[in-house]
Amino acid sequence: MSTILLAGGAGYIGSHTAVELLQAGYDVIVADNFCNSSPQSIKRVEMISGKHVPLYEVDIKDKKALSNVFLKHNIESVIHFAGLKAVGESMEKPLLYYSNNIDTTISLLEVMAEFHVHNFIFSSSATVYGTENPIPYIETMPRGTCSNPYGWTKVMMEQILEDAAKADPALSVVLLRYFNPIGAHPSSMIGEDPTGIPNNLMPYITQVAVGRRDHLTIFGNDYPTKDGTCRRDYIHVVDLAIGHVKAVEYASHHTGTEIFNLGTGTPYSVNEIVEAFEQATGVKIKREYGARRPGDIPEFYANADKAKAILDWKAEMGLYEMCRDSWNWQRNNPNGYQI
Ligand code: NAD
Ligand code: WQD
Repeated sequence: MSTILLAGGAGYIGSHTAVELLQAGYDVIVADNFCNSSPQSIKRVEMISGKHVPLYEVDIKDKKALSNVFLKHNIESVIHFAGLKAVGESMEKPLLYYSNNIDTTISLLEVMAEFHVHNFIFSSSATVYGTENPIPYIETMPRGTCSNPYGWTKVMMEQILEDAAKADPALSVVLLRYFNPIGAHPSSMIGEDPTGIPNNLMPYITQVAVGRRDHLTIFGNDYPTKDGTCRRDYIHVVDLAIGHVKAVEYASHHTGTEIFNLGTGTPYSVNEIVEAFEQATGVKIKREYGARRPGDIPEFYANADKAKAILDWKAEMGLYEMCRDSWNWQRNNPNGYQI
């Protein structure tokens, strides 16, 4: 079976994808500099799957170090998860975000060309639809105007990858636009382990639930939605990971660029998420309403038809599973991978 390189594979989405690829029979290798993750996640992946995962501490920007990984393995496809992803931090450190996210992409493309590796699956984001496209978002819409440098790096990387695929007829690029991934592996051995104060909603909720934070602040209750709080398309990270297995299969039989939304197509409000979490877990979440967070838009969700039609993929898990698994991960690992 073919070997898949997961660049940034020790992170939240990469580790879950590693499990699903291994279970589907692929060999997996991981290259990561652990700037936002721990090698422990891959140890846990090995425990879940019962398989060995070669792990390299490599900065993907470092082409020489990356080439050494390609020399050691017969890589067929690359999934590029290796990016910085904190929206607020990207506004404070735009150059760090542009250089890390874009240089990793170019480095991978160049080393892949050198080793005649043609399949590139990219972690893109719903954020590329920007602020002006109508909802639900569909892949045929133009990329929009982003409200922060993180989003712009995704827009730019999509463009770079499309241009690279136009110039190299052998290249197959799959752009996966994730919506809002939450949840954890049902084994509760791997999950999201943010450093510092969580930026995203679900890790904040679980840290309140486990007693690491006093209360959740809901950013705005005066949006033009039915309960005044923002609505998003939350997707279970295991469903998302399975989408990558389908994308790897697709990439190996196609060339050019193809874009897929990976979402459920159903939005939930912040209030609905908190209530679903309380119902699924029996744990009360202390909360209060605060000011709107700059850059948030009232509502977005996916049109998920294309992934169903072409990849034969759709999200199977609902809000109950997302809340249950987020909580089980957090309560069994109150300090994440830190032992
Ligand atoms: P994560 O931070 O958990 O994983 C990213 C991994 O990349 C980390 O292990 C980090 O150490 C590694 N990394 C970063 N820069 C690197 C470099 N220069 N060299 C080597 N390794 C490097 O994040 P995640 O949630 O798993 O996200 C994975 C990808 O998906 C990211 O590109 C992110 O932008 C994208 N994405 C995430 C979300 C989300 O909500 N989690 C949504 C849309 C898109
Ligand atoms: C969800 C909702 C908040 C925290 C971000 C990125 C996006 C993509 C996914 C990578 C919003 C509200 C949150 C809190 C709250 N990532 N919230 N209190 O902003 O939809 O998307 O992650 O590509 O690009 O922007 O996700 O989880 O931060 O917020 O009220 O403490 O929860 O206002 O309505 P978001 P999120």
